[in-house]
Amino acid sequence: MVFILDAMKFPEGFLWGTATAAFQIEMGRGEVDPNSDWYVWAHDEDNIRNGLVSGDLPENGPGFWELYPEDLKRAKEKLGNNAFRMSIDWSRIFPDPTWDVPVEVTFDPDGNICHVEVSEESMRLLERRAHQSSVQRYREILEECRRLGLTVLLTLYHWPLPLWIHDPIACRDDVFHATRRGWIDQSTVIEFSKYAAFIAKTFGDLVDVYATINEPMVVSGAGYLNKKSGFPPGLENIDLFIRVSKNLAIAHGIAYEQVKRWDRVSSSNYGPAYVGIVHCPQYYEPYDKDSKDDVEAASFVEYIQNEWFLNMVLKGDFDLNIDRIIDRDEQRPNLAKGCDFIGINYYMRNRIKAAESKIPGFPGFEIVPCTENCTDMGWEIYPWGLRYELNWAYKLYRRPLMVTENGIADAKDEKRSDFLLSHIREIYKAITEDGVPVKGYFHWSLIDNFEWARGFKMKFGLYKVNYETKERTPTKAVQVYKQIATASLH
Ligand code: BGC
Repeated sequence: MVFILDAMKFPEGFLWGTATAAFQIEMGRGEVDPNSDWYVWAHDEDNIRNGLVSGDLPENGPGFWELYPEDLKRAKEKLGNNAFRMSIDWSRIFPDPTWDVPVEVTFDPDGNICHVEVSEESMRLLERRAHQSSVQRYREILEECRRLGLTVLLTLYHWPLPLWIHDPIACRDDVFHATRRGWIDQSTVIEFSKYAAFIAKTFGDLVDVYATINEPMVVSGAGYLNKKSGFPPGLENIDLFIRVSKNLAIAHGIAYEQVKRWDRVSSSNYGPAYVGIVHCPQYYEPYDKDSKDDVEAASFVEYIQNEWFLNMVLKGDFDLNIDRIIDRDEQRPNLAKGCDFIGINYYMRNRIKAAESKIPGFPGFEIVPCTENCTDMGWEIYPWGLRYELNWAYKLYRRPLMVTENGIADAKDEKRSDFLLSHIREIYKAITEDGVPVKGYFHWSLIDNFEWARGFKMKFGLYKVNYETKERTPTKAVQVYKQIATASLH
């Protein structure tokens, strides 16, 4: 292995890190945050009874909220990392509504929000309204990262919404009469812009690299098209899916502008504000390459999952009838505000088979279950797909890329080391042979954590967590990652 690693020299300044999300790791020690939709969703007895969620509870998690100093030390010393991806939970910062903090909202002629102006006076109100102990704790975590020399990639929104914005149970039960409907309503975009402005102003001296939204297509797809995913609010409605996706695309642009405006302080080579989005293009392939129907179904899934959203954010192409043709009234360059890099979360290959359509006008499909090289999630390991997706994203959008997630649920710790090495090799080839500008790699995840609807059973951590004692134990891949990261740090 040493030979292989020696042969890989990554570009200077390459970021080596792990990726985490607030809700998945924080609780378990210290202050519990019961004020988000995901908290309520995971506790809901109907959801648990119906098997939509596991019944595991986030407050029994790894306890990063208090144990962060030792976890960050692991990242630095045991993994040899120089970066760390984390998120802030909106509901920890604003447990109570910010509706009444005044901002100036501009709409375009079609009624889309195209600009939000947060004044200095409104910022002062937000500062008074923010939950001080959370602000303080996030500062401590970010300061610790800086002290250790870990460049932070901060995600503003990694899925939980404050309850005052989204009541997932009311929406699940009767969305058309619910009042707090999350991303269905444009008002959430306005509140998100206040939150983004506040975060950039408050933590801008410690953060330069931001991701506005994590995997918007999972928020809209899992939440509004696939009840079985166990994601809030558990609906299957194509119109709502389109509406939520569109609002998320607009929200990215609006938040992008806020971060650029409010973070003026540089703390690294990326500074002051290098702002992107985190997307999750996976590798899709027709199950039977000779079947016209399978080929068509795979091509549709690839378009909707990989391309459709990024086209809105980066090109202003809002293909809202999903016919792959951008009509005149679907061109909205005014809503594409910018995206300095694209985060790529890559996990698997999916083989797609044509099936009966559940949505009139759209090809039906099913994902063929994994039979070989599968992870505990039932995802097929396919490293070359990462090289393919990096090439694909760069060719289409011409932005620098970061691999913001890539990892494996592997309770027995049998496949993780190979997984890590084989995927990193593909990134290396994408950089050196294909000329794709990849700026960093963040392995999912530093420690085992709360895997959303699947709970604690899925073990993604480079460190295993004993949820009783909160003790962390290294997996075999820790050594491997350390060798890779340190070999290529200049
Ligand atoms: C998400 C993480 C999640 C991981 C593994 C990504 O989709 O961003 O929050 O835990 O995949 O499922």
